[in-house]
Amino acid sequence: MAALHLMRTEIYYPVLRDAELLEGRSKAVEIRGKQLMIIRLKGLLRAVENSCSHMGVPFEEGPLADGHLVCPWHAARFCATSGDHLEGPGFCGLEQFPVRVSAVGNIEVGLKHGDVTPHPLRGKRATAGILAAEETTVEAEAS
Ligand code: FES
Repeated sequence: MAALHLMRTEIYYPVLRDAELLEGRSKAVEIRGKQLMIIRLKGLLRAVENSCSHMGVPFEEGPLADGHLVCPWHAARFCATSGDHLEGPGFCGLEQFPVRVSAVGNIEVGLKHGDVTPHPLRGKRATAGILAAEETTVEAEAS
């Protein structure tokens, strides 16, 4: 039952301090093998996959061009707000993930169980950190 719960529910992972990402900028992060681009645009945060839909090239960090992510290889353009493919050789839009700012000022991204590489301690005794937080969430939901 606990495993089924983890597959359906997002776990939020801290990726940056809120103050580290300025308006109109993007920053690349990785969560257990998942490459993401965190974007702050018009006061809103977005998290999209950091992989161009043309050939999988990561986007460059930094200022956004007119609100668009632009691939550094062949200049495909994607809407930084919706992830939609706008022009250029990309094949589809970018997958988006839920993002929030925690009470202690961390930008956190929500990923489902299948989005990330399994934690190396899974199935073993969890001692700290994210895996312990996951188990706490499951126990709280089960009771
Ligand atoms: S790899 Fe991104 S446009 Fe070609």
